[in-house]
Amino acid sequence: MEKFVVTGGKPLFGEVTISGAKNAAVAIIPAVILCDEPCQIENIPNISDVTLISRILQQMGANVRRINNSTLYIDPTHISTSVAVTDLVRGMRASYYLLGALLGKYGNAKVALPGGCNFGVRPIDQHLKGFEALGAETRLVDGAIIEASCDEEGLVGTHIYLDVVSVGATMNIMLAASRAKGLTVIENAAKEPHIVDLANFLNSMGADIRGAGTDVIKIRGVSYLHGITYSIIPDQIEAGTYMCAAAATRGRVTIKNITPKHLESISAKFREMGVKITEYDEALTVDATVKPLKRCNIKTMPHPGFPTDCQPQFTALLMSVPGTSIVNENVWDNRYQYISELIRMGAHISVEGRLAIIEGGAPLTAAPVKATDLRAGAAMIIAALEVNGTTEISSIQFIERGYEDVVEKFRGLGADIKKVYFTGDNEEELRA
Ligand code: EPZ
Repeated sequence: MEKFVVTGGKPLFGEVTISGAKNAAVAIIPAVILCDEPCQIENIPNISDVTLISRILQQMGANVRRINNSTLYIDPTHISTSVAVTDLVRGMRASYYLLGALLGKYGNAKVALPGGCNFGVRPIDQHLKGFEALGAETRLVDGAIIEASCDEEGLVGTHIYLDVVSVGATMNIMLAASRAKGLTVIENAAKEPHIVDLANFLNSMGADIRGAGTDVIKIRGVSYLHGITYSIIPDQIEAGTYMCAAAATRGRVTIKNITPKHLESISAKFREMGVKITEYDEALTVDATVKPLKRCNIKTMPHPGFPTDCQPQFTALLMSVPGTSIVNENVWDNRYQYISELIRMGAHISVEGRLAIIEGGAPLTAAPVKATDLRAGAAMIIAALEVNGTTEISSIQFIERGYEDVVEKFRGLGADIKKVYFTGDNEEELRA
């Protein structure tokens, strides 16, 4: 069993370089299916979710090659099927983007239902509503596979109003509509930076998408998309995670290769707490050495609100700050499974529905904890860095789904963290 072993209690100092955005990459890679020529995508994070979606495309006949650590070459011209029902597909949430891309390209798709991080019900009704509005019929087969198909006329543009602001539904409808006939208008669309990135990617290939980044997106379908080289945006959540770790250990860290604008809601909260944030063109410095930090409340919201994907990491930071802080999780129904792990470390946190009430400043002790999902795992690392002692974190495969070189990056900031392979009584350190 692989674990991270973290000995905390000292501040982080130095510089960390952020990788490409996971949630952009897992949409842009399947989006290449829509293209009629090969593409090269740069700034791809080297994480297991990217490996998975690349393998899924390979299984379908695409030629996918890593040109270097952060560049993928994808030739979709030999894709021979619109069916994706393997265990690999079931293993990742973002495989739902295959539905929009295959439906857009071939007019039909059969895709296994997504797995991925588990925090409450994760419906895709808004995705299916969008496909149906475009003229597709959708069916649930054997309770585990979605089939979508349209008649010879193909998909036809229309108005779609999303009942909930959904990142996945917005991107999936963009994918399907980019090759539909006529104009599709998505209203109440999500506005996350990765939605703008997907639109920029598709537009560079010849698509006609306007308004991405606002809540009304207009997509005029085109009949051909050409190959391009494209560099995806930096990962705002990876950046937010290192910001939380820097503040939680009262350190000073410069976060490089980022877009500071994407981090505004997080930076605003840091400033409210008394952390000094200095922004540069493509970097920012978090300095928590200057004065004692103050408690604060957060409420997660779709972009430009505070991102739910930084909620667990911020909770881990807040438990180090004396006073009562309140976290309001407003996007997901059940994203607090990890709190019981923090409580094992001595945190004083209670959960009441969507609220987590944190009595910060309680003394923490090392305890064996597990990553209950990707961001929960990041929160465990941050909590472990706060503890004077050695914490073992298990289920680290969740963390590796979304964080490139997490051990090396934290070590570069002076953290004492290693990946260890446990077999019974023996342990062996694993290095990248
Ligand atoms: C994306 O998930 C991200 N995943 C999540 O990141 C992130 O938490 C989430 O957006 C919100 O920002 C990927 O990009 C692969 P949603 P997604 O559709 O698109 C409800 C991480 O840690 N909803 O925006 O699946 C839903 O239940 C992950 O990197 C419906 O009701 O999220 C939720 O309450 C985990 N019907 C809300 O909308 C639908 O059809 C937002 O979900 C779709 C969603």
